[in-house]
Amino acid sequence: MVIDLDEHNVSPGHFMKIFEKTLQTREKSGIGTTGVLRMGQIICIASLKGGVGKTTTAVNLSTALAIAEKKSLLVDCDPQGHATSAMGINKAKLTATIYHVITGRALLETSIIKSDLESLNTLPARIELMRAEAELMSKPYKEKILHKLLCGLKETYDYIIIDSSPSLSLLTVNAISAADSLLIPLQCEFYALEGVEHLLKAVQFLKKYYNPKVKISGLLLTMFDSAENISRLIGNEVRNHFKQMVFNTVIPRSIHLREAAVYGRPLLLKDISSAGAQSYLKLAKELIDKHSGQHLDDTAKLNTSGRVDPEKHVFSKGAV
Ligand SMILES: Nc1ncnc2c1ncn2[C@@H]1O[C@H](COP(=O)(O)OP(=O)(O)OP(=O)(O)O)[C@@H](O)[C@H]1O
Ligand SMILES: [Mg+2]
Repeated sequence: MVIDLDEHNVSPGHFMKIFEKTLQTREKSGIGTTGVLRMGQIICIASLKGGVGKTTTAVNLSTALAIAEKKSLLVDCDPQGHATSAMGINKAKLTATIYHVITGRALLETSIIKSDLESLNTLPARIELMRAEAELMSKPYKEKILHKLLCGLKETYDYIIIDSSPSLSLLTVNAISAADSLLIPLQCEFYALEGVEHLLKAVQFLKKYYNPKVKISGLLLTMFDSAENISRLIGNEVRNHFKQMVFNTVIPRSIHLREAAVYGRPLLLKDISSAGAQSYLKLAKELIDKHSGQHLDDTAKLNTSGRVDPEKHVFSKGAV
């Protein structure tokens, strides 16, 4: 059931009514329920640096987890809606998106879209999500809306993967506040750690006020090209500094990963044998092992003081 899609001004009372209804009625929903009681993990793919592979990771990791028979929900929390497009969802035909859910216009369960894989669903986003920020400003629990909505889905999904935007908007605050852990993609290039440093500052603040238990799933090296000096050097430096916090799996630079997004199909469903697809399967396995052993790191360890600075450190060695 979709509620008041065309109504743009939702009163606080109406908002709370729909919001509470979503929380109360989710158990009656058939989406994804298999009778298996799960203890799902909410993982936010986060970096305040743009273009580092957040969306590519969110889409292909959710798919890899689903292939590994983990019930997965991809939550697109970026107004750009790139994850939604990469899943091949026709945005023009959607009657409800995450915008309608978080602003109280639609129920969560009925806004979730199924995929070709039975274990993989998506909560889509579209450009109207940009309006949510202004609309939610006066709402109660505005930083925790997504948390409240997604928490109840933990019994339905093994993994809920949130794709976030590179800005520290109220949406990103919601995404980080909803997460049990953060997966931080790090592109092997000059200012690789800039995003980590900015994110760290934001996380310390958000942790204090909204999500004291948030952990680090891991740092993920993306767009790695072993033929490039810079990739190897940054990769080594990041590993030296962050040690076991960095996933062993590295995502290679791959034209197939880039193209798959354009075709609107996760690479794993297009060409599972390609190196890019295989790397995300490997990442899924490593993530599952990490989470089942609860080998997650405290955000306090994500300390960038005395950090690797590509300019001051790597380059001062005359590496390039
Ligand atoms: N491993 C890879 N190999 C080659 N291209 C990649 C890889 N990962 C991502 N890309 C490409 O790099 C660009 C940025 O990737 P992506 O959209 O995943 O980053 P993002 O962090 O989500 O960006 P934004 O901050 O704008 O949301 C895209 O064109 C994508 O197809
Ligand atoms: Mg993105």
